[in-house]
Amino acid sequence: MTTLVLCRGAVVKTIAAAAADPYFTAMLAGAGEVRRYAGVLRDAGVPLPGDLAVTDGACGTEVRHTWIPGPTLLELPGWRSPEFLAAVTSIARWVRALEHTGARLDANLANFVIPDQGNLTCIDVLPPLLTSLRPAETGPWEQVIGGLCFDADITLCALAGYAARHLLGVLDPGPAATGIIASVLRICPGHLRPGSLAARWFHSRLQAARLAAAGQVPAAEAQTLLAVTSVRALQAAPRAARRQHAEAALAVMASALDRRAT
Ligand SMILES: Nc1ncnc2c1ncn2[C@@H]1O[C@H](COP(=O)(O)OP(=O)(O)O)[C@@H](O)[C@H]1O
Ligand SMILES: [Mg+2]
Repeated sequence: MTTLVLCRGAVVKTIAAAAADPYFTAMLAGAGEVRRYAGVLRDAGVPLPGDLAVTDGACGTEVRHTWIPGPTLLELPGWRSPEFLAAVTSIARWVRALEHTGARLDANLANFVIPDQGNLTCIDVLPPLLTSLRPAETGPWEQVIGGLCFDADITLCALAGYAARHLLGVLDPGPAATGIIASVLRICPGHLRPGSLAARWFHSRLQAARLAAAGQVPAAEAQTLLAVTSVRALQAAPRAARRQHAEAALAVMASALDRRAT
């Protein structure tokens, strides 16, 4: 969605309006707003690249900063899971710290780099998640992505699910893995509107990860269930088929989870 260009050790990022989903183009903001957004993140304790610069470029708002050598959280191997857990705990703390501001954090694990030297850094501020720019939710995908981006309980639930999925993929099954996965699952605070599509969507993923961590669902089946509730797959469905896609995905989850609960 963002165009990334590497130029003499710096990354230059823009959002190509033509390529982005209308949901994201509705959030496009000028350099001033992106700078304000970055300021709110910093005030909440979110570490951003020190040399982050935002300008109004010919192709839209441009964000520039140095390339930070090091893995993103999604690339962290199993033996680094204590660091992974500490990083995910920090992200959850920032999400909660931002809850009472007009800014939100894109808690995608690929947005956080553990530098070879230095501390965990958030490298993605485009589009700026400002509640004042929250687009209307015109369909099921927009409801799911809107919750993910803007509602802290949904962001935390999704973060817990994404972190659990990563750990299920990189850790050998056993009590140590079960323990660490249980700690990330506790990041979900529960939901004010448990019947909303976004809450049902992300919370069912959490339950699948919980059963897999407890050895009640084979890891391969859990990964299949997590793929069924992929936000990208929902977005890829034709607009007119998305409601049916979402309900079918939730029905697959409910039947797999109910079978285990009984
Ligand atoms: N400053 C940076 N240092 C290291 N890696 C980066 C940096 N900026 C981006 N990346 C890499 O590029 C990926 C995509 O960047 P990001 O800004 O999150 O764009 P998008 O969310 O549109 O894919 C990141 O997940 C990370 O792997
Ligand atoms: Mg990103």
